[in-house]
Amino acid sequence: MRSKGYQRTLKNLRYINKYFLRYKWHLLLGIIFVVGSNYFKVLIPRAVRESIDLVVEALGVHHFMGDSRAAENWGDAIGTSLMYYGLLVFAAAIITGIFMFFMRQTIIVMSRLIEYDMRDEIFKHYTKLDQAFLRKNNTGDFMSRISEDVSKVRMYLGPGLLYTINLISLFVLVIYTMFQVNAKMTLYTLLPLPLLSISIYYISSIINRKSYIIQKQLSRLTSIAQEVYSGIRVVKSYVQESSLGDYFESESELFKQKSLNLARVNAYFFPLMILMIGISTIITIYIGGTFAIRGEVSAGNIAEFVIYVNMLTWPVTAIGWIASIVQQAEASQERINEFLSYTPEIKSESEAELHGKIAGAVSFQNVSFTYPDSGIEALKNVSFTVEPGTSLAIIGRTASGKTTIADLIFRLFDPDEGKVLLDGMDARSIPLSHLRAGMAYVPQDVFLFSDSVEANIKFGDSTLQLEDIHRFAKLAVVHDDIMKLPKGYDTEIGERGVSLSGGQKQRISLARAFIQQPALLVLDDCLSAVDAVTESKIIEQLRTVMAGKSTIFITHRLNAMPLFDKIIVLHEGRIVESGSHDELLKIKGLYSEIFEQQSLEQQPAVSSGSG
Ligand SMILES: Nc1ncnc2c1ncn2[C@@H]1O[C@H](COP(=O)(O)OP(=O)(O)OP(=O)(O)O)[C@@H](O)[C@H]1O
Ligand SMILES: [Mg+2]
Repeated sequence: MRSKGYQRTLKNLRYINKYFLRYKWHLLLGIIFVVGSNYFKVLIPRAVRESIDLVVEALGVHHFMGDSRAAENWGDAIGTSLMYYGLLVFAAAIITGIFMFFMRQTIIVMSRLIEYDMRDEIFKHYTKLDQAFLRKNNTGDFMSRISEDVSKVRMYLGPGLLYTINLISLFVLVIYTMFQVNAKMTLYTLLPLPLLSISIYYISSIINRKSYIIQKQLSRLTSIAQEVYSGIRVVKSYVQESSLGDYFESESELFKQKSLNLARVNAYFFPLMILMIGISTIITIYIGGTFAIRGEVSAGNIAEFVIYVNMLTWPVTAIGWIASIVQQAEASQERINEFLSYTPEIKSESEAELHGKIAGAVSFQNVSFTYPDSGIEALKNVSFTVEPGTSLAIIGRTASGKTTIADLIFRLFDPDEGKVLLDGMDARSIPLSHLRAGMAYVPQDVFLFSDSVEANIKFGDSTLQLEDIHRFAKLAVVHDDIMKLPKGYDTEIGERGVSLSGGQKQRISLARAFIQQPALLVLDDCLSAVDAVTESKIIEQLRTVMAGKSTIFITHRLNAMPLFDKIIVLHEGRIVESGSHDELLKIKGLYSEIFEQQSLEQQPAVSSGSG
């Protein structure tokens, strides 16, 4: 990926220009400070030249004076003048330093501000993306775009830009000053610089290539370690510790070899640079010497030129580095742009504000849906209606399309054919935020954040009181479980704290949904890890919570079915039966078949559930 980057143009980085515009004052001031610091820096060699010339001339005169009193006074006068030059150099150095402080305070600060804005923009965009995109791109990919790629772009915005402005202004100022002194000598002494920059560019591109390989190997190592860590239970139970250990060791060995390889190249880098700088200093002194002998320049000029050449060599060595920063930033920005330019297919067709809340009526009209990536036709001509204030149970064997129905209601996908109506309106015509705000969804694979139990239940709604949280946790039959945790509702859960059982997680998610008091509640098989007795208790409570509102309950288990107003039976994406529990039993179809099967299975173990 990076190797291709070497031939890239910089069109992707143009995206950042809007940020430069936003922070134009930072940038402008930064440029002024950089130029200012270089202006004062260039004064120093001039002071050195004047003082050396002064000494050389004065010593000549002093030589003729002999040991007289005048000679002594003359010596004092030279001392005073030298002191003056010393102070001048000191003052120029201090002013340069102050300007350097401010140039970092403007340009590096600007890069941090832009970095912040970019992360924000990427994250906001991320939360808008639809399932189709999110499924195609994995977590690691998103993580690297928001962290690594943004950092690479920031390197371009901060140090990259700073060194470029510095390089250009220093070159202009120094070369201008050198030409003022002697044009021919300037040309001769600058001759080795291009050679220096080319060789340094060559070595630094080798270093970059090797670092990239090492980086990739490192992320391989991290992901192996991470995977083994999260799957440690499986690893141990299949007694795979030693074989995975060997695998890790061999990958680690590869990493070591590649790192040693880089260390070798790096070891060449500094000596080479010092050598080059030394050579150009010698050349300067030699050429300066020949010019001085011919009387074209003074001794002070030689000293001055040595300082100029040294001043230029360091920024020249940075050219290779800047070039690689820019290339990496370009490649990273391309990945960021690709992400930002993706427009979600699921979006609100009208952004018109709707007044009032959703009443909770759902109706599917001849809905068919095929998953675009797998080509599986998950729903075939499905029609049903849920009136506000009623409850519907959706049952069916695994992969029959139950979760797909829930996803379509929440517009995680749009149907290929037919319509999903909410309160009699096409779901597509309702603004997404309005649609989702009125409903709550507890998905099949419940998810809790690494935070306290309380924060997980109220989930962002800071207006909720503790009493409410307790009341709804009781309704979800999880309050007693929470009180038994070490710090009750303040217990940290997830990666940062205690682990909960599957059933506890499900009921906490349920409390989170209850507390929103939605007009429509969709529960996707979210009591599967709760025992049958608790499940029935929760469903009883559900009627209190959802009085006058609609509920859609997706499940495999039929124990609680008599409590629902209506049941639909899905089979391979089609509704094969529908009606109340008693009606369905009478039909003696798929429903009664599953019911009988489950009654038989459950009889011996009716009260020993697995909460
Ligand atoms: N994101 C997806 N991309 C592609 N195919 C999918 C996707 N989600 C589900 N499917 C397919 O669609 C079909 C219906 O899946 P769905 O998740 O709706 O079943 P389900 O009834 O909820 O099953 P379960 O009871 O096991 O949860 C399955 O064949 C499944 O493989
Ligand atoms: Mg499902």
